[in-house]
Amino acid sequence: MTKTTIAVLAAAALAAGSALAQAPAGDAGRGAQKVQMCQGCHGIEGWRTAFPEVYKVPRIAGQHPQYFVSALKAYRSGDRAHPSMKGIAATLSDQDMADLAAYYAQPGETTRKASK
Ligand code: HEC
Repeated sequence: MTKTTIAVLAAAALAAGSALAQAPAGDAGRGAQKVQMCQGCHGIEGWRTAFPEVYKVPRIAGQHPQYFVSALKAYRSGDRAHPSMKGIAATLSDQDMADLAAYYAQPGETTRKASK
């Protein structure tokens, strides 16, 4: 690695860090490896789950990363009470949340479906 490359990487890391003030920087690539557990509900066309009863699932693709992370933290802490999301959020670290937020914030994500 050249000195220039290191400087560029350091600058990019700084920029990513300040955008999400104090939160770990999200990585969309890592996020992509963690979305299987979300797509069962959030990837359904029409954004509804069918079991155990039909309820509306909010569309999270294209959501602003800061909103996304604070929503997940609110489920984890119990400030938001939805049982399914509380269960899911309890398994996520701050880094997982940042990665998922970065993944879902990608422009192409608004049209992706759960299954082919
Ligand atoms: C069992 C179904 C289910 C799974 C799996 C699931 N979610 Fe959710 N999610 C929901 C429902 C239902 C809501 C709306 C809850 C409410 O009314 O507060 C929600 C809400 C959210 C919200 C808040 C959206 C908003 O507009 O306020 C975010 C962010 C979110 N989910 C992210 C995720 C992520 C990331 C994953 C995977 C790690 C995931 N969810 C997995 C069902 C699910």
